[in-house]
Formats: sequence, structure tokens, C-alpha cells
Amino acid sequence: MAVPVTPALLYLDNVTVSFDGFRALNALSLAIDHAEMRAVIGPNGAGKTTMMDVITGKTRPNEGTALFEGSHDLTVLDEAAIAELGIGRKFQTPTVFYMHSVEDNLLLALKNPRGPLATLLSRRATQERERINALLERVRLTAHRHRRAGELSHGQKQWLEIGMLLAQEPKLLLIDEPAAGMTDQETADTADLLRDIARTKAVIVVEHDMTFVRDLGVKVTCLHEGAVLAEGPIDTVSANERVVEVYLGR
Ligand SMILES: Nc1ncnc2c1ncn2[C@@H]1O[C@H](COP(=O)(O)OP(=O)(O)O)[C@@H](O)[C@H]1O
Ligand SMILES: [Mg+2]
Repeated sequence: MAVPVTPALLYLDNVTVSFDGFRALNALSLAIDHAEMRAVIGPNGAGKTTMMDVITGKTRPNEGTALFEGSHDLTVLDEAAIAELGIGRKFQTPTVFYMHSVEDNLLLALKNPRGPLATLLSRRATQERERINALLERVRLTAHRHRRAGELSHGQKQWLEIGMLLAQEPKLLLIDEPAAGMTDQETADTADLLRDIARTKAVIVVEHDMTFVRDLGVKVTCLHEGAVLAEGPIDTVSANERVVEVYLGR
């Protein structure tokens, strides 16, 4: 493998995405460290979703560099290959299997699912059981393991989906507006959960709820017109005149 050109886990430099001449991303540069959580804010149309589309291979940039672990070029890999590298994405709408139990949803999502032969090997089954238990604990659903996913609250469904992403053992998680539609308590619990996850994995979380963003207690990047407008601690970013003008002061 080539020598990494950057120690960052994710490295975007000068990334531009044009749709019919309109620049959804305009020379965007951003770097995320191993096990760093970053909150991304910015007005509608700032390019937040497009940035995630580039990172996951859904959209190809017209220009720029996008590297994972210093050597994997995300601009040439397809979505499946990028997922395989360890980049997981959670969309706003949960995509859990409603008729299945909570624990079966997690079992279905495990990275190395049990094949017919492995089913006979009880040691493997025990290991899977332990992984499921740990995931249930992590996403606060241990008490709900036997319930159908469709019966969970909106917040719990979001957590189950985060658990299903974790079952894939990603190195980087991309999460778009997790707090949308959640109660205040669920929002606070979600911040807690993400802080817990970010102790071992990198997380990029896009969110409009500033109470939630403040709760995360991490570095914040504000995007505007496809580029970074401000970056730093929440207090610095939210006091930035341009950020207030284009986003917070609306
Ligand atoms: N497939 C597309 N075709 C044309 N324009 C797009 C497409 N995807 C996004 N855009 C435009 O790019 C800009 C950035 O969009 P988006 O990344 O969704 O912003 P955000 O997630 O920050 O609200 C918006 O003006 C949007 O209309
Ligand atoms: Mg968006």
C-alpha cells in the first residue's frame, strides 16, 4: 500500500461538485481524525448532504481530493467498496425491519453473518450473542430486545439503526440530522450515545438543533455555499458574525 499522504482518517481537499454549473460544493476542505466526532452545521443548501454523498461515493466530485486512511481514494471507489472500507451512513428515515424483533434486526446487520455451517458451531453463535448483547447495551435497547422494531418510539428506531450501523464495525459514521423529530429527552440521550460511540470511532454528525450540538461538546464546522465558513469550538463558531448572519440569526 502507498505511504499515506495525511495522518487524518478522512481528508477532503478542494472538493468541488457542480450540478449544471451550480457549485453545491465549492473547494471544500475538511479533515477528520481517528475517533474524532465533528458536528457540521449550516443553512439549507450549504452542501452538507452533498459532502456526505461525496464521502460515500454516491456523488463524484468534479475536482479535488478525498482520501480515507491516507491512501484510499474515495473519488474512484464505488459505494459498496467505500462501505467495505468502513464508512457507514445513517439517513434521516430509519430503515429497520419493522416486523422483526430488535435483536433480529441487529443479527441481520452483523458484519460476518452466520452461514448454515457456522450455525452448527456453537462457539461462533456464542460470540454473536455477545456482540448482540453489547450492541443492545450500547444503543440503550436491552430492555426492548424482544419487541418488534415497528413498536419502538421514533427515537428508539433511530438508535436501533445506529446499532445496525455499528454491527458493520465502521471506522467512520456519517449521521444526518439524528435529533429531528425526537423528544428533548431522546435528543439528550442521543448526544450521550454519540459521545460514547466517538470514544472509539470517528463520527460526522449534521444537525440543526444547536442545543444538541452544544451537548456533543465537539469541534463544529459551519458550511455555507459549499465551503467552510467557520470551524472551531461551538462558542467561537456561534459568535462568528458571518455564521450569525447566514445561519443562526435567521
Ligand atoms: N442532484 C442534484 N442536482 C442538482 N442540484 C443539487 C443536487 N443535489 C443537491 N443540489 C443542490 O446543491 C445544493 C446543496 O444541497 P445539499 O447538499 O442537499 O445541502 P444541505 O444538505 O446543506 O441542505 C442545494 O442548492 C441543492 O439544491
Ligand atoms: Mg441536507
